[in-house]
Amino acid sequence: MAQPAKCVVLIFGASGDLTKRKLMPALFSLFAQRLLPDDFAILGLSRTAFSDEVFRDRITKAIRGFSGTEPDQQKLTDFVARIYYQALDTQDPKAYEQLSRRISEIDRQHSTNGNYIFYLSTPPFMYETIARNLHGAGLHDSQNGWKRLVVEKPFGYDLESAQKLNRNLLECFEEEQIYRIDHYLGKETVQNLLVFRFSNEIFEPLWNSNYVSHVEVTSAEHIGIEDRGKYFDSAGILRDMVQNHLLQVVGMIAMEPPHAFNARAVRNETIKVFESIKPYSGDDIRNHVLRGQYTASTIRGEPVLGYRDEKDVAPGSRTETFVAMKFYIQNWRWGGVPFFIRSGKRMPTRVTEAVIHFKPKPHQLFEQSKSLRDANKLIIRIQPDEGILLKFGMKQPGAGFTVKKVNMDFRYADLADTYQPKAYERLLLDCMLGDATLYTRNDAVEACWRFVDPVLKAWSGDESLKVFGYPAGTWGPAESEQLLREHKVEWRYPCKNLADDGEYCEL
Ligand code: BG6
Repeated sequence: MAQPAKCVVLIFGASGDLTKRKLMPALFSLFAQRLLPDDFAILGLSRTAFSDEVFRDRITKAIRGFSGTEPDQQKLTDFVARIYYQALDTQDPKAYEQLSRRISEIDRQHSTNGNYIFYLSTPPFMYETIARNLHGAGLHDSQNGWKRLVVEKPFGYDLESAQKLNRNLLECFEEEQIYRIDHYLGKETVQNLLVFRFSNEIFEPLWNSNYVSHVEVTSAEHIGIEDRGKYFDSAGILRDMVQNHLLQVVGMIAMEPPHAFNARAVRNETIKVFESIKPYSGDDIRNHVLRGQYTASTIRGEPVLGYRDEKDVAPGSRTETFVAMKFYIQNWRWGGVPFFIRSGKRMPTRVTEAVIHFKPKPHQLFEQSKSLRDANKLIIRIQPDEGILLKFGMKQPGAGFTVKKVNMDFRYADLADTYQPKAYERLLLDCMLGDATLYTRNDAVEACWRFVDPVLKAWSGDESLKVFGYPAGTWGPAESEQLLREHKVEWRYPCKNLADDGEYCEL
C-alpha cells in the first residue's frame, strides 16, 4: 500500500470534541499501523493557550479514552512527541504570519518538505476567514510542497450559503486542494457499495427500473440530540443527515459505473445522480416529504424527554428530528422507480441500511402470501452488524409446493482478522495520499442543496406543512407509512441484527 508523503497536519479547533474523539484517535491508529511516514507532525491550533506538553497530555488522555482499545504505550509516546500546539486568534491576519513561522520551524525539524494539511474542525462560520487568512500569509501556495484544506460539514446552511462558501474558498484555494469531508464516505460499508456493485457480474444487470420496484434508505439513531441542542435546533435532520450522508449513499446506489476508479471519474458519476433527482414541484413537498419531532416517552422503563424539552431547544420549536421523503431519479436507469429515504433521532434502534426491492414475479406458480413483501430484497447494511442480506423464496419442506422466505447473508464480522478502519482513518489517509475520491466536490454539494433547499424554504414559509409528533423510541410518525402506501409497499423495520426485521425488534 502506498505511504503518504511527509507532511504536517494542522488542526484548527484543536481543543474541540472532534479532535479529541475522532481525529487524534484516527491519526494515532494510522501511526500505530505504520501507515504514516516517519516524518510527520501535527500542530494543534485553537484560541486557548496551552504549552505543547499540556496539549500532548490532553491528547494522550483522549487517545486512551476514545481509541476503543488500550493503545501501545511506546507507540503512543512516539506519536505524541510529534504533536505541537499554538494558540491562534483565527480572525487576526497578523497571527498567521507567526503561524507561518511556527510551521516552517516544525517543517524543518521534521523534514516535511512544505507539505501541509489544514484541517478545519472549527464552527463553520470561521471557514472563510481561516481560508482567507491562510491565503493572505501565502500558506495556500503549493509551489514548495502541497497544501490541502480539509473542511468538515456542514458545507453551508442552504444553497445560497453553500455557493457563497464555495466561491470564497475557491478564491483562496484551488478545487483540487479542497477536501470536503462527509464521514459516511469513509465508512467501509459505504465504499463497499461501489465494490459490491462493480466487481460482481450478477447484480448489475438487475440494477435498474426493469427489475427494481423501489429503493429504501434508512438511517436511524436511538440517541436524541444529546448536548447539541443549539446546533441541532437551527439545523434539523434534513440538513444534518439527508443533504449530505443519505444523498451520498443514494449517489453510490444509483450511479453509473465509472470508466475508471479515480476521484474525477467516480465523482463525475455521482454528480450526475444528484443532478437527475427530480426537483419537487407543486404539491410534491406536501405529499412526498414528511417531517416529525419526537415527544416525551418511556424507553426501556426510563423516561425520555421530548425534543422541545431538551437543553437549548426553543420551547415551540418546529425543527424536525425525523424526515421521510420520496423522490425519483430521472434518468434511463431509474425512471419511474421511487426512492424512499428516512432518517430520525430517537428511533427504536441505531441502524443505517439500503434496501433494493425487486419487482414481484410476473406470474404466481406457488402458494404464497400475496403481499409484495414477499418479493426479493437485497439489504445492504451499513451499520451495525455490517453485511449484505438477500431474501428469496424456497420450497417449504414437506407436502405440496409452498414457498418459504429465507435469508442468505454475509457479515463483516465473519471475516477473520480483518481490521475495519474507522471512517476518519480512511479519509485522513486518503487526504495525505492526495486521493479525493471519497471527498465531496463543490458541484455535488451544491446539487444536493439544490434538491433540499425548496423543502427547507417551504417548511419555514408554510405553517400548514405539519410537524408530526412521534413518541421517542418509535419509528417516527405513523403518517410516514402514507408515503409508501400509494405504491402498496411498506418500510422495512430493521433490527439491530441484519437478518431480523419487524415493527418490534430486540432493543
Ligand atoms: C453527523 C450528524 O454528521 O452524523 C449527527 O451531525 C449524527 O447528528 C452522525 O449523529 C451520525 O453518524 P454515524 O456515523 O454515527 O452514523
